[in-house]
Amino acid sequence: MSYTIEHYPVHLIDVVRLRGGERVTVRPILPQDAAVTQAFVRELSATSRHSRFMRMLRELPSGLLARFTQVDYRNHLALIAEMFVDGREVVVGEARYAIADDGESAEVAVAIADAWQGRGLGSLLIRRIACSAIAAGVTRLTGDVLASNHAMLQLARRAGFEVTLNPDHPELMRILKCLSVQEKGGPCAEMGFAA
Ligand SMILES: CC(C)(COP(=O)(O)OP(=O)(O)OC[C@H]1O[C@@H](n2cnc3c(N)ncnc32)[C@H](O)[C@@H]1OP(=O)(O)O)[C@@H](O)C(=O)NCCC(=O)NCCS
Repeated sequence: MSYTIEHYPVHLIDVVRLRGGERVTVRPILPQDAAVTQAFVRELSATSRHSRFMRMLRELPSGLLARFTQVDYRNHLALIAEMFVDGREVVVGEARYAIADDGESAEVAVAIADAWQGRGLGSLLIRRIACSAIAAGVTRLTGDVLASNHAMLQLARRAGFEVTLNPDHPELMRILKCLSVQEKGGPCAEMGFAA
């Protein structure tokens, strides 16, 4: 299937430093990132994969891999964090939002390679995804998180999400953040997003 990229958001490309000083490139995903994205998912620990996808999978089925890498950058945006190890491109994190049919709320998700967890990268990607979502007109970010996923629940609380029980699924927590235009002029502007 052919796929044409329109309006690749180059302004979202950035090089950031993690707490330990490592430099990581953050950029919107491209269709040609399928192989590195699949490698990222395969190399996650079984626990991290289960926390991210809430089902047992070893790798992304081809349809899902295509959906993950062929995004329209407005209704569905994915940012990947990558490093170069021995001259090879390695994805160490990904975060995305997908706008729901109501056009106002969006589902968020994030995953960080196990060796790179706990260095602030997940929080950084979620902050950037939230700023891009505001720019796309999203007013509410939501997500389902396993109740046992303390790292994600802590990340969500620190990023200003409310955390509540999912009434339909006791094993899940619902995270919700109402996005305010003030963020667009404040934290988002500080990160270089247009106010
Ligand atoms: C959840 C996840 C995205 C967090 O990303 P991260 O880069 O490791 O998180 P950060 O370093 O930005 O830390 C965010 C907060 O979570 C806390 N945290 C990190 N790991 C933690 C853990 N294992 N237990 C409790 N808190 C933890 C950090 O201390 C930090 O809180 P603080 O600011 O109060 O110190 C990452 O652990 C991951 O990819 N897990 C597997 C996939 C997953 O669960 N995805 C979420 C499904 S939507």
